[in-house]
Order: sequence, then C-alpha cells, then structure tokens
Amino acid sequence: MAKVWSKRFDNALDPHIEKFNASIVFDRKLILEDLECSIAHAKMLGKTKVLSSSEVLQIINGLKLIKVEYLEGKFFPGPPSEDIHYCIEEKLIGLIGETGKKLHTGRSRNDQVGTDIRLWLRKEIDNIETLIIDLQKSFLNLAKSNIYTLIPGYTHMQRAQPLSLAHHLLAYIEMLQRDRERYKEVRSRVNISPLGAAALAGTKIKIDRHFTAAELGFNKIYKNSIDAVSDRDFCIEFVSASALLMSHLSKISEEIILWVTDEFSFAKLTDKCATGSSLMPQKKNPDVPELIRGKTGRVYGHLQALLTMVKGVPLSYNKDFQEDKEPIFDTAETISSCIKAMTILINDGIEFNIKNLSDSVENDFSNATDLADYLVGKDVPFRTAYQVVGQMVKYCLERKILLKNLKIEEFKKFHPEFDEDVFVDLKPVNVVKSRNSEGGTGFAQVEKEVNNWKKRLLL
Ligand code: ARG
Repeated sequence: MAKVWSKRFDNALDPHIEKFNASIVFDRKLILEDLECSIAHAKMLGKTKVLSSSEVLQIINGLKLIKVEYLEGKFFPGPPSEDIHYCIEEKLIGLIGETGKKLHTGRSRNDQVGTDIRLWLRKEIDNIETLIIDLQKSFLNLAKSNIYTLIPGYTHMQRAQPLSLAHHLLAYIEMLQRDRERYKEVRSRVNISPLGAAALAGTKIKIDRHFTAAELGFNKIYKNSIDAVSDRDFCIEFVSASALLMSHLSKISEEIILWVTDEFSFAKLTDKCATGSSLMPQKKNPDVPELIRGKTGRVYGHLQALLTMVKGVPLSYNKDFQEDKEPIFDTAETISSCIKAMTILINDGIEFNIKNLSDSVENDFSNATDLADYLVGKDVPFRTAYQVVGQMVKYCLERKILLKNLKIEEFKKFHPEFDEDVFVDLKPVNVVKSRNSEGGTGFAQVEKEVNNWKKRLLL
C-alpha cells in the first residue's frame, strides 16, 4: 500500500522500519474515538463553509458506515495501515472516493491523536469510577455485618490495639474515596480539546475549535497550540492515580493473604476465589490477591515508562509520544480487572473466622494501653502510668500469664490506684468500645461512619 506521503519520497520504506514505525496493532483500540473525532471535525468544516453540506454528508455517512462495518466484524483495522488515523482515512477514500480526501483539511494527526486518546481516557475514567463505587459498596456491606467483630490491630506488624473489623474495612473505603477524587481531578484535565491545534501552530483554514469541543463534550480548549499537541501530563496523571489505587488494592491483598494462612487463621477463602495446587492436595491458594499484588508492579512500571518518555523531549509533538498508548491501555485494563476481582473477593471470596478473631484479641497484651489510661483516669500522669504498665507486662511475660490473670493484690502492688473495676477495662470489647474519639474504633463511632457511607454510597 502506498504511503500517504509517498510522493515526497523516491524509495519504499525498509520492511522492518515500516513495522517498527507503525502503531496500528495497538492504536486500533481508538477506532470509535477516531471516528467520533472525524465526524465532529467534518461537521465543523461544514459549519465554517470550508466543505459543502453535500460533501459533509458524504463524509459523515462514510464514517458511520465504517463504524457499522467495524461493529459487525466486517472491517478489522490492521497492517499495512500505519496507524488508525491513516487506516480510517484510507478506508473512507475507498468507500466514498475523492471527497474522502477532504476530511483531513485543517487538522493534523498530532491534534487528532491527542483528541482520540482524551476521548478514550475520559470514557475509561468514567467506567473506573463505577467500578470503584462497586468495590466501596462491597467493603461497606462487609463492614455493616462486622461492627462488633473484633480483630487485632497492628503497627509494625506487631499486635497494637484491638479494632472493630468494620473500622478496618472502612479504612479501605476512605482510600478508595481518595482514588475517586484523584480520578475526578485527572478527568478535568483530560477533558480539554486539542483539536484545531493542527500540527503545532494552528491553521489558516477557517475552523471553529469551540464547535468541535462542544460536539465532543470537552469542557474547554487548549489555549496554546504547541502545548495542545505536546501535552501528555494527563496520561501520567492517570497512571499515577492508578498506581496509588493499585497500592491500596495490593495492601488489602497482602492482608487477605496473611489472614488466610494457618498461622493467622483470621479468615478462609471460599471456593469461588481460591485455587488448588497441582501437587499438594491440601492446598487452597490465594491466587486472586497474589495476582493483584503482582500486577501492581506493571502499573508502577507504566508510570516510570511515561515519566521517562516525556523527559527532555523538546516542543512540540515528537514520535516518542506514540509510546503513550500501550501504558495507558494496559493500565486501564489492569486496574479495571483488578478492581472487579477484588470486588468479587470482598463480596463472596472470604469468610472471617469470628471465633479465632475473638480468641486472638483475648490472648495478647493489646489492652496494655487501657491499663495506663485507667491510671490516667485516676489522675496519674500518663508517662508514669505507662512505665508502671511496662513493668506489669514484663512481670506477666516472665510468668507466662496475661494482664487479666493478675490478682487485684498484684495490681495494687504496681499502683495503689488500681481497683476491681480494672478488669472491666481490660476486656477487649470494652477496649474497643471506649476508643470513642472522633474517627476512632469505638462502636458508636464506627456505627456513625457506616451510616455516613450508606448515605454517601446510596446503599
Ligand atoms: N501514530 C501517531 C501517534 O500515535 C500519530 C501521530 C503521528 N504524527 C506524526 N507527526 N507523525 O502518536
């Protein structure tokens, strides 16, 4: 197939270079966006009278026919076309003849590709928003039924203080809410039209950039044509927001992997989300969270690739930018499938072992702070109380007993302010209940937050 630009050259491209240069095998994903962009551009050329209304009609009908053929599986864009933009133009000319050659009036592939990826990314971000809301809802459902389930809380992976399991799960809803806010921000910078910037300098053809922007649902237009064809910040922002989202998914993945070990035994996987081993008959493997944790690396890698792609690239469009597509395509696909998998896992994939959870908070020292706070309640300075309890923990460890096993006389030996009611404060359920500061794990706080999220997520 002769290249659009072949008249300028004497010889054909080297076959490897031709393949090397082409982006059609991946940018054909943009076909619907490219058609949409071209239809808006053709309409605009009609409005500004650059093309006659019959020419516009022919072009638009031709583009619509390409869409139908594509959706019916009768047209499959691919080599030897160089990219999706040339591919559609060639196809259009094949369908409607000479008039098809007028479509590219007053535009360049540089503003065209920028428009296409923005349209594609905008739609992806909207889909991702819906997926994140579904995941938040599944965390909330699990939280609703586990307000009074206790789970050890950790810092440094050491037992710290017991928590309401719902409080732990609500923490993920908060992270996901920040992810949603970030995507919303990114979307506002995706939703700007570069169309009409042409190659880099604008055009002498009479165009109406506001018309095409409105047709394509863009909020505003780029003010500077050079910036319009050179900006890939929004791709980096999208992958950056996605990298953070993946960090959240890999955090809960890691927790689930730990929870279902024999060592923790806080939960078990249901058959819906677990896989067996080819060799060891007893195994039930957490492949789903492991895969999510593993896929996090891909998204981080895409972020690094894009940051490096733009580094030191002079204005304006450079072919380096063709490398923007695969990272954003793979990022969108990876995060969408990970969020869906996590939603299934949270909805139907794990069953908490309530008995093990409550046993584990009964049998540790995670109520030690409460002993210190008990003394604080009797006007003992916190630092003094803290040191008293430190000695008590040491005393218990030497005797292989827990704080609740100490006799009241022993308590009093450590500090005269201790009384019988200290045993009430030591109970894990009371430990949790009493953390009633705003945003704390106290049941009243958690219930309030569950209700808040029910309203916010319309559950
Ligand atoms: N396939 C190209 C890309 O993805 C389209 C723009 C090409 N522009 C050019 N001046 N060579 O970036």
